[in-house]
Amino acid sequence: MSRLDPHSFFDADQPRTRHLSLDVEVDFAHQVVAGRVTLDLGAPSAGPLDLDTKGLTIAAATTAAGAAVPWALGAEEPIRGRRLRLDLPAGTARVVVAFETSPEAIGLQWLAPQQTAGKRHPFLFTQFQPIHARTMLPCQDTPIVRATYEARVVVPGELTAVMSAAPAEAVASGAPNASGHAGPTEGAGAVEDGRRALRFAMPQPVPSYLIALAVGDLTSRDLSPRSRVWAEPATVGAAAHEFAGIEEMIRAAERMFGPYEWDRYDMLVLPPAFPYGGMENPRMTFLTPTVLAGDRSLVDLVAHEMAHSWTGNLVTNATMDHFWLNEGFTVWAERRILEALHGEEAAALGWAIGQNALDESLARYPAGSPYTVLRTHLEGVDPDDVYSSVPYEKGARFVAVLERAVGRERFDRFMRRYMDRFRFTSITTEEFLAFLESELPGVAARVDADTWLHQPDMPAGAPVFRSKRLEALRSLAERWGAGARPSREEAAGWNANELLFYLQHLPRPLEEASCRWLDAQFRLTPQGNYEVLCEWLAIAAASDYEPAFPRLREVLRTVGRMKYLRPLYGAMGGNPRTRAMARALFAEAAPGYHALSRRVVEGVMARYEGEK
Ligand code: BES
Ligand code: ZN
Repeated sequence: MSRLDPHSFFDADQPRTRHLSLDVEVDFAHQVVAGRVTLDLGAPSAGPLDLDTKGLTIAAATTAAGAAVPWALGAEEPIRGRRLRLDLPAGTARVVVAFETSPEAIGLQWLAPQQTAGKRHPFLFTQFQPIHARTMLPCQDTPIVRATYEARVVVPGELTAVMSAAPAEAVASGAPNASGHAGPTEGAGAVEDGRRALRFAMPQPVPSYLIALAVGDLTSRDLSPRSRVWAEPATVGAAAHEFAGIEEMIRAAERMFGPYEWDRYDMLVLPPAFPYGGMENPRMTFLTPTVLAGDRSLVDLVAHEMAHSWTGNLVTNATMDHFWLNEGFTVWAERRILEALHGEEAAALGWAIGQNALDESLARYPAGSPYTVLRTHLEGVDPDDVYSSVPYEKGARFVAVLERAVGRERFDRFMRRYMDRFRFTSITTEEFLAFLESELPGVAARVDADTWLHQPDMPAGAPVFRSKRLEALRSLAERWGAGARPSREEAAGWNANELLFYLQHLPRPLEEASCRWLDAQFRLTPQGNYEVLCEWLAIAAASDYEPAFPRLREVLRTVGRMKYLRPLYGAMGGNPRTRAMARALFAEAAPGYHALSRRVVEGVMARYEGEK
């Protein structure tokens, strides 16, 4: 037995899935997805095949020819779930497993109509990274295994489905960059007794965490010949406006990292309960609607998800112990895209805002914590419980250190070779290091890669990204107590990221008069930029500033994005009145939050008493 991934029952001595075919029906009334998956092993095989499942009911297992395949479910484990062991009869190249999901499946979030923009139809979306594909289908749920896939998805006739895949007709006709499925009114997909069947095909091999599905009242707008945005009808106009510049971004990324390999770059804007900012599902990035600031000031987030098309989807981590390879390179790449599009100053601001996130994450863990190490050892640890900015920002700083050590031109050439060498594979930190050594001998030792990768906290001498512009903002914010204030004209010239950086560095709690001044000066409470808005609401909550509370309540009732829930509920822990408000709000809003968001908030609130 050879178990290479601590979060999966995958056994490297057994055959690997090469292609996977899903045939499922989405049942909103019972909140289950039911159907079958055919795993194509690429060659006749025999003996045990271990799959991951969590909360799944298994109905049957057969060969493609219909012969029974003996199967057994192992005991439930809290993180991995249950092993499904199939005992393949000799000569089995394809095995079919019939299953049904649980309404509690963590990889699926079912939204009631009132949680959508249109308020009339329910919504379903999946979020499989890091280890949740197994809550929707039995599979080798480890990024070590990559498979192409196809799917037939039956949905209510008035709804549409999108996946991290192309419409099957497009792939079959040899035009995989044709656009996605049209909405139900536009005639695609057979409708029978009120249901539609939609077919998808994913011709490039992907790890299970990149399989994705969303079902709802969706429509789309074209942005370029290879990109369109999907959203509910009420949201699609705003989304199309926000992302109008997407083709320019794809081209900037291609100039640096090589041709875009996934045919199309489509995006789906989800309802506000989506627990992340974005998820790099190939061909269909999933996005929170909180990126729709109205002025394109938050499109950096798309640069990040798009960058994953190279650093992540093309070359990903073999297991969650190497997650930094995925996110660290992507944050670095995201800032290179920003620099190419908006200049060095904009990229520097990105690094500086990232510094804040890093400092906060480092502060959450005690000095010497294993969770501030880049190359982790997460056996027995739930990766969702240790999600933080460390792999992102510490990882990106390590990449920047490598870039500085050899100079940009050489490093860019190295990156091209790296992506070329490992394209469509999943690698470990050790494989990366061996490649680094072979391509750029001595560099790892020169930058002390060992400390970066294997020691907790930040290495001495880690780069701190500073710029004159930012230092002026920081000093202005830090001199708040001494009476320093930006003039109206000065403040009028700030962009959203500068305002965010300034707010991040203000002391808190603030006096009521200070809050009132800030709110009026920067028109904070009605802000459309959620980064700025939530930073402000955290200041207001920590300062017990009541005029902002209606807006705070509104945000916490609708938005499920963990990045905002954590600091907002955290900021409400400072005094008895806001603590009571937090408890009441959570009781009301929790049923609408993703299970992961609920867990994060519960963790934050559990620390309220201890502190006080
Ligand atoms: N792949 C991540 C999201 C993720 C990571 C989901 C691990 C589940 C487990 C995505 O690319 C991401 O990092 N999103 C960020 C935004 C980004 C700009 C840093 C987010 O959602 O906040
Ligand atoms: Zn990412």
